[in-house]
Amino acid sequence: MTELSKRPIPPLGQRPRLLEMSDISKVFNGTVTALNGMNLTLNEGDFLSLLGPSGCGKSTALRLIAGLMRPTTGRITWNGKHDRGDIGVVFQEPTLMPWATVAKNVWLPFRLRGQSFASVQERIANALKLVGLEKFHDAYPRELSGGMKMRVSIARAFVTNPRLILMDEPFAALDEITRQKLNDDLLALQSKIGCTVIFVTHSVFESVFLSDRIVVMAARPGRVVQELTVDAPYPRDIAFRTSADYAAHTQVVSEALRRAIGDHADDHL
Ligand SMILES: Nc1ncnc2c1ncn2[C@@H]1O[C@H](COP(=O)(O)OP(=O)(O)O)[C@@H](O)[C@H]1O
Ligand SMILES: [Mg+2]
Repeated sequence: MTELSKRPIPPLGQRPRLLEMSDISKVFNGTVTALNGMNLTLNEGDFLSLLGPSGCGKSTALRLIAGLMRPTTGRITWNGKHDRGDIGVVFQEPTLMPWATVAKNVWLPFRLRGQSFASVQERIANALKLVGLEKFHDAYPRELSGGMKMRVSIARAFVTNPRLILMDEPFAALDEITRQKLNDDLLALQSKIGCTVIFVTHSVFESVFLSDRIVVMAARPGRVVQELTVDAPYPRDIAFRTSADYAAHTQVVSEALRRAIGDHADDHL
C-alpha cells in the first residue's frame, strides 16, 4: 500500500470508540499531581482538543496515551488490537535530524521498525506531497522555514498511516499567518485520511476552529473541568473563521476556560 488509506468519519455520536481513559491520575515524585481522576472517551474520527493553562496536565495526558509512561492509578483501554505503531506524535519543536534530508527525516518511523528507505520511498513521497513539500524531498532542515519544518514533522507523523495522531502545541511557536495556514491544511489532511486527532493547545481560537470536541482542563491539580462540542460542519475554512457561529463558540469556550482558571486568572493575563 502506497496511498494513505481513507477512513470515513461518521457524525459525532455515531463514532466507534477508540479508547477510554478511566480515572487516570499521574503523580510525579510522590508530590506533584499532574493529573487527577481524568476520564475521557475518544472515538474514531474525533478531532479533540485539550485546552487549558500551562501546568494543567495536557502533555502528561498525551504522554500517557502515547504509552511513553504509565499512569499512577487508573487505566487506558483501547478498543480492539492496538500497538504503538498506531500512533503518530507531533511536538511543539519539529525535532528534525539536521544531518538528514527531509525525506530521510520522514523515513524515521519506518527505520525504527527496520524498514529500508527504498521499500517505503513511495509512501514518503506521498506524505510529503500531502503537506505540500514534494519539491523539498532532498532539502536539509536548515533550508526550511519554521512552518515548513513543522510540515515535515507532520508528514513524519502521518506517513505510517496511524489511527491516532497526538499533537502537543505544534503551532505555538509559529506566527499567526503560518499558524492559520497550517490549521487549514491540518483539517484538509485529517478529512482526507479520516484519522483521529488529539490536539493540545492553549488557544481558544485554534481549538474552536479545529475541533469537534474540546476538553477544558485546569491546573493544581491538573484535571478535566468541562467538555464542549463544536457542532459546526467540516470542511471549515475562512468563511467559518469569520462567521458569527465561530465567534459564538469562541465566547462559550473562553468563558469555560475563564471558569477553569478561576482564582489563578491573573497568572495568565
Ligand atoms: N517528569 C516530570 N516530573 C515532575 N513533574 C512533572 C513532570 N512532567 C510534568 N510535571 C508537572 O506536572 C504538571 C503538569 O505538567 P504538564 O503535563 O507538562 O502540563 P501542560 O502540558 O498542561 O503544561 C506540572 O506541574 C508539571 O510541572
Ligand atoms: Mg505541555
